[in-house]
Amino acid sequence: MAFIAWRDDMSVGVPVLDDDHKTLINLLNDYVDALDNEEGLFVTDTIFTALGQYIDTHFRREEGIMAEAGYPDLEAHKAVHARMEAQFGDLRDRFLLDPSDAAQDRLKDFLHDWLTDHILKTDMAYKPVCSKLSKT
Ligand SMILES: [Fe+2]
Ligand SMILES: [Fe+2]
Repeated sequence: MAFIAWRDDMSVGVPVLDDDHKTLINLLNDYVDALDNEEGLFVTDTIFTALGQYIDTHFRREEGIMAEAGYPDLEAHKAVHARMEAQFGDLRDRFLLDPSDAAQDRLKDFLHDWLTDHILKTDMAYKPVCSKLSKT
């Protein structure tokens, strides 16, 4: 079973950003599968790196759309993204130093909450403004 499943109530009203969120969720699921199947550090770290790269792609795209739509909380949202990216880099370093089962379980739970909370709270806040843009 997927670690996270995308749900309709996660829609931010901008199809390209919904697609990004689905891709991020898929990458996180792949990562968790690799951990659960004990694929080894190289495979898991490769997926983790891909997840980090896609986070960068998505954050920049989302920031561009918020700017284009004139979203008033853009700067605060960008600051949250910057903090998340720093946290992600830190997690990767810690994961490589300590890939124990307990550390992996903590990391999975953290990433689950980190991603779903961000989509459902911070991202959802731009829905009324940015969803109008995608309909024009
Ligand atoms: Fe965001
Ligand atoms: Fe997002």
